[in-house]
Amino acid sequence: MDLGLSGKKAIVTGGSRGIGHAILQNLVDEGVSVATCARGEEALNAALEKWQAQGVDAYGSALDVTDGAAFTDWLENSVESLGGVDVFVSNVTTRVHSQGVQRWQETFEVDLLQHVNATEALLPHLKNSNVGSIVYIASIASIMSANMPTETEYGAMKAALISYASQLANKLGKDNIRVNIVSPGPIYHEGGFWEMVKNKQPDLFKRAEAVSVFNRLGTPQEVANAVAFLASPAASNITGANLRVDGLAIKTVNF
Ligand SMILES: NC(=O)c1ccc[n+]([C@@H]2O[C@H](COP(=O)([O-])OP(=O)(O)OC[C@H]3O[C@@H](n4cnc5c(N)ncnc54)[C@H](OP(=O)(O)O)[C@@H]3O)[C@@H](O)[C@H]2O)c1
Repeated sequence: MDLGLSGKKAIVTGGSRGIGHAILQNLVDEGVSVATCARGEEALNAALEKWQAQGVDAYGSALDVTDGAAFTDWLENSVESLGGVDVFVSNVTTRVHSQGVQRWQETFEVDLLQHVNATEALLPHLKNSNVGSIVYIASIASIMSANMPTETEYGAMKAALISYASQLANKLGKDNIRVNIVSPGPIYHEGGFWEMVKNKQPDLFKRAEAVSVFNRLGTPQEVANAVAFLASPAASNITGANLRVDGLAIKTVNF
């Protein structure tokens, strides 16, 4: 199936490793020009060089998405470098180590506010695309009342992100912009959260495996495949969807 992505332009945040990296690799393989960011410069540059060697335009800068002005300046510069934008994938999360109110504040900034800032900055440009599409990376933590490991703030912010995205899908239909959500279950990758759990809390890791009907964690590639489809013109009548990529970890009937 032709996804219709070839020649399109995409901005994906947090592309130096994990799920964001797999999303970008899929897009590059489809012939999409890309821009991405991360805080760490070394891994970011290695990824950009790899994609440039594949013959696509690939831009990126080391920055923190919670640094409002630097982030929105970078988004504007990326649109200019790419010559427009058709697809925005808002992917970044950060592990927060503070406690109490400070933890709520930091989680709000990284798991909600920066997604909103990026969207506001990119909307005028997405409106100029005839196939504009946004995908937010949420989490099944958004609907779990017994998260494992317990991450009260993270789950609450991901739930708010899904509410925001669903409202946007309704508002932006008139502009022919589609808005969808992908909610992964536990995803294993090198350097990721669950690798650390596997090494330090093997019992918790086993519990995470067991929530899936396949008795394993998911892979970044499995999430990236869902994102590529939803972001593509092949999904032209799908908007406001929240697609779980979780091996049926959440045991509900999806009407
Ligand atoms: N992994 C899972 O099990 C899982 C499950 C459900 C949902 N998700 C969601 O999937 C998305 C990606 O998760 P992941 O596991 O791939 O995360 P990850 O391995 O921590 O990678 C996050 C990426 O974002 C960058 N990043 C982090 N904080 C940043 C910041 N403040 N500013 C700019 N860049 C930043 C990281 O690079 P630097 O560190 O160099 O900045 C990295 O490239 C997140 O939205 C997460 O909530 C993940």
